[in-house]
Amino acid sequence: MQDTPENRAAAATPIDAGIEPGTLQLGINGKPYFHSGDATMPLLWFLRDVLRLTGTKYACGVGTCGACTVLVDGKAARACMVPMLEAAGREITTIEGLERDGLHPVQQAWIENDVVQCGYCQSGQIMAAVDLLRRKPRPSEDDIAQIGNLCRCGTYPRVRSAIQRAAELTRAKRT
Ligand code: FES
Ligand code: FES
Repeated sequence: MQDTPENRAAAATPIDAGIEPGTLQLGINGKPYFHSGDATMPLLWFLRDVLRLTGTKYACGVGTCGACTVLVDGKAARACMVPMLEAAGREITTIEGLERDGLHPVQQAWIENDVVQCGYCQSGQIMAAVDLLRRKPRPSEDDIAQIGNLCRCGTYPRVRSAIQRAAELTRAKRT
C-alpha cells in the first residue's frame, strides 16, 4: 500500500473497535486519540483546543514562525500546517511528552543557559532543537541557523549556546 495520507487514515481507522468509519486515530505523547470531525482541521487545533495541550503555541498560523513545532514520527513539523488527515496513523510528541522522567537534555541545556525571555516561542524552539540533534549530533552554526524558528525577544544567541550544550549532554548520555 502506498504511503499516502488517505491510506494511512484508512489503516488507522479503528473500525474493528466499533468506532464509526472515517474516524482518524493518532498517537499523542504515547497515548491513542481519535478524531471524527473535520479531517482538514490543523493538528494544532486538536492539540490546543481539544486536548488542552497548550504548551504548543499558536502565533502566525501560516507555517512561518515555528511556535507550533511538534515532532511527527520524530521529525519536526509545524502543527498549524498539518491537517488531521496527515496526522492520522502518526505518533505526535509535544513539549508535554518530550521526556516522561525528568528533563530532556535540551530542556536541561535551556535551563543552564537561561534561554527563556517571554517564553512564547520556546516550546517550538526546544522541539526544533530536539529534531536537529537527532539529525546532527554535532551541529554547526549554519545547521542551527537553518532551523528558522522566530523569537520576537531575540533569544537567538542563547538558543545557539543551549543547542551546543544540549549536543554535549546528549553525547554524554549516550556514552
Ligand atoms: S503558528 Fe505554526 S508556524 Fe507559526
Ligand atoms: S522568548 Fe519571547 S518570543 Fe521567544
